[in-house]
Amino acid sequence: MIEELGQIVAEQQLSRQDLVRILSCGADQAPLLKEAANQVMRRHVGDLVYYRGIIEFSNICTMDCCYCGIRRSNVLDVPRYRLSREQITETAIWCADQGYGSVVLQSGERQDEEFIAFTESVIRTIKQRTVSDRLPAGLGITLGIGQQSPQTYERLYRAGAHRYLLRIETTDEELFGRIHPPAQTLSSRIACLQSLREIGYQVGTGVMIGIPGQTLEMLADDIAFFAEQDIDMIGMGPYIVHPDSAMAELGMMERGPLLQLSLNMIAAVRLALKDVNIAATTALQAIAPDGREQGLSYGANVTMPNLTPVEVRKGYQLYAGKPCLEESSQDCSTCLLRRIQSLGRDVGFDQWGDSPHAAAAGRIPGQQES
Ligand code: 5AD
Ligand code: FES
Repeated sequence: MIEELGQIVAEQQLSRQDLVRILSCGADQAPLLKEAANQVMRRHVGDLVYYRGIIEFSNICTMDCCYCGIRRSNVLDVPRYRLSREQITETAIWCADQGYGSVVLQSGERQDEEFIAFTESVIRTIKQRTVSDRLPAGLGITLGIGQQSPQTYERLYRAGAHRYLLRIETTDEELFGRIHPPAQTLSSRIACLQSLREIGYQVGTGVMIGIPGQTLEMLADDIAFFAEQDIDMIGMGPYIVHPDSAMAELGMMERGPLLQLSLNMIAAVRLALKDVNIAATTALQAIAPDGREQGLSYGANVTMPNLTPVEVRKGYQLYAGKPCLEESSQDCSTCLLRRIQSLGRDVGFDQWGDSPHAAAAGRIPGQQES
């Protein structure tokens, strides 16, 4: 078995069957898989870990994804909040002062003009106020505000956001349909990813791992989709049930196997896509205290310290057991640095940390042909 895995991970082109084999690895084969993923990571993206300080600037959401704790229909238990322009800007400046080269602005999904205009002007302000000798073009800004029109994407790109995260959640049409209301379609999400790419964003996507009804073959097909769509960044995490969501009664995988499958998925993506950025997400830490470090040790090279002000953090619980609800940004930062150094890796301070995949395609602002 181990020899067979060794042969598979050494292959240049992984077939669907190879990917399924990697995804089914147990703890006994983990050291070999980790080593292979690490080698590919070091060769194609280096071994620095990049920070993206994440600011969850509002939990007001017009969408109704069945798995999510802040979905529109969840009216009872979620006090809705929005951070002020000053709160967001001050947090972003703190992030730049700490040497984090990039910030992620994430919120619930809204398409109204007030929200878009607010987001646009916040992006402009952050860009202006974070220019320094250390960051001559200001903080790198990644947006995650869901499905928007091409015009909106264009407007926010012009304001200075250069990366966008929009998870596809699953590329299996039937499964996608089961976890979303009929008005939310797989094809419209794919169209958004294509529009983001055409505008010039570095595009990130990803899936939830361990959704009830999801198979290893589906996850292998998700990886093939990332390759086909020429994706630059990947953010994936375990599906964790939220007790007040519409999927609560379907339960979730057991934590041990779910953690291993999530780590296998990170390694499989690293082996298949090679030069993309891969995030070790917070949801990994919700199912194991050292989940994010484990993600980094399976080939991930990005992590996202939570900078959302502690007063509102509890309002952004998409799933149960989200970690670090009480810790200050400073505490999270110190804790994370120690954890990364314990892996023998360093942090890429004062850099945007764009993926070599995006750089090779010329998707770095200032490097595009005009
Ligand atoms: N478990 C894990 N991830 C979740 N997300 C939303 N709800 C859950 C959940 N219950 C993820 C989705 C979404 C991102 C913002 O959060 O993948 O795209
Ligand atoms: Fe879609 Fe929260 S409503 S992820």
